[in-house]
Amino acid sequence: AGPCDIYSSGGTPCVAAHSTTRALFSAYTGPLYQVKRGSDGATTAISPLSSGVANAAAQDAFCAGTTCLITIIYDQSGRGNHLTQAPPGGFSGPESNGYDNLASAIGAPVTLNGQKAYGVFVSPGTGYRNNAASGTAKGDAAEGMYAVLDGTHYNGACCFDYGNAETNSRDTGNGHMEAIYFGDSTVWGTGSGKGPWIMADLENGLFSGSSAGNNANDPSISYRFVTAAIKGQPNQWAIRGGNAASGSLSTFYSGARPQVSGYNPMSKEGAIILGIGGDNSNGAQGTFYEGVMTSGYPSDATENSVQANIVAARYAVAPLTSGPALTVGSSISLRATTACCTTRYIAHSGSTVDTQVVSSSSATALKQQASWTVRAGLANNACFSFESRDTSGSYIRHSNFGLVLNANDGSKLFAEDATFCTQAGINGQGSSVRSWSYPTRYFRHYNNTLYIASNGGVHVFDATAAFNDDVSFVISAGFA
Ligand code: AHR
Ligand code: AHR
Repeated sequence: AGPCDIYSSGGTPCVAAHSTTRALFSAYTGPLYQVKRGSDGATTAISPLSSGVANAAAQDAFCAGTTCLITIIYDQSGRGNHLTQAPPGGFSGPESNGYDNLASAIGAPVTLNGQKAYGVFVSPGTGYRNNAASGTAKGDAAEGMYAVLDGTHYNGACCFDYGNAETNSRDTGNGHMEAIYFGDSTVWGTGSGKGPWIMADLENGLFSGSSAGNNANDPSISYRFVTAAIKGQPNQWAIRGGNAASGSLSTFYSGARPQVSGYNPMSKEGAIILGIGGDNSNGAQGTFYEGVMTSGYPSDATENSVQANIVAARYAVAPLTSGPALTVGSSISLRATTACCTTRYIAHSGSTVDTQVVSSSSATALKQQASWTVRAGLANNACFSFESRDTSGSYIRHSNFGLVLNANDGSKLFAEDATFCTQAGINGQGSSVRSWSYPTRYFRHYNNTLYIASNGGVHVFDATAAFNDDVSFVISAGFA
């Protein structure tokens, strides 16, 4: 059985079921998600294998030698409640016409029972939505929902959500949402410790318990894979959570609605959001693997069975890197492969990261400027950070999507901005270097200046022309 078979047996059927990793009904054989590739704009649907796990190999074959984005996350419930690129609302997204960004198809690799699959890695600016969903709870009607998330990928911005929201992408008032939130925002509510926390986004408030503000029974979560569950019915709601890779769910709150005007009764509207707030606030980040929404208030016993099913799916980490291996502690230099520039290496001039012509006969200072010590990724040690050879303690990081050399300030944002994952070079030469925190974006030289660029985004340096060559670098032993 799948999670939605369990919810059906419990009398609270799934009215939306989303996953890029597996079928959520045992009998589901339709498409899980659609990817679009950068080379020609073609799309393909990724379906489950007979095991129920997504056919990641089909994605890898379709996306070979180019980039891919997740364009549609299909609804497996049969109601057509698919998630697509979120439109502008109270806030605009960074993509053209105010839409949010789409997720990279390769930002969140995992295995389920040993089989590779990909989750949805939501960078700030990324969001999915369905403003015309059918069968989802409206008004004060009862519903439940769960999501499997990456407990190590979060931030404090509003709002990494999955669940029920406004149909016009605007803040229409208290009680117009009921969604899972995951992150360490402290603007509205908090739990114990420093976060991240599972909270309920009920609009104009992330709630960690009976009242606004701190509720110490809502714990900080540190599991790599997290099961988060929220449910609500007239004057009753609950937060539950646990380790998606083992054990059972705990109840962090179960009780009455907040005693603030607008939350009792609720005014749910029934749209579905992923990765954003109800008003399209899009500064948050997180990773989504699977989730559902139900009709009716699921019993704890039903949710406990769903948790057992999730644990049995055996989510585990998969490598974030591929292609030529890098050795932590070694010195490297990175040579451009675009025809213009094959004698140019990634170097720095002060804090500017650029390309410069370097050879074995260059001055020692220039050789050092073009040499980088490979470090374990500051935000994720499955990837890398690149420390300057001549300015120890300074690393290549992105800032406003440009690459700069900055001293490590010890912050979580710096660590994330300075963490990059290598993969086989997209043009077939060397390696491409992907931002961990914005996996649609790669080291790219553009007019000899370095950026993190996406293949066809809104910036000048995102141009599709020469993209594959500009993002492919031959990595060798460092000049210095
Ligand atoms: O409730 C928190 C957030 O407040 C909602 O997600 C958003 O719509 C509003 O800004
Ligand atoms: O480079 C994109 C973002 O810009 C970085 O994450 C942040 O440091 C800056 O605001």
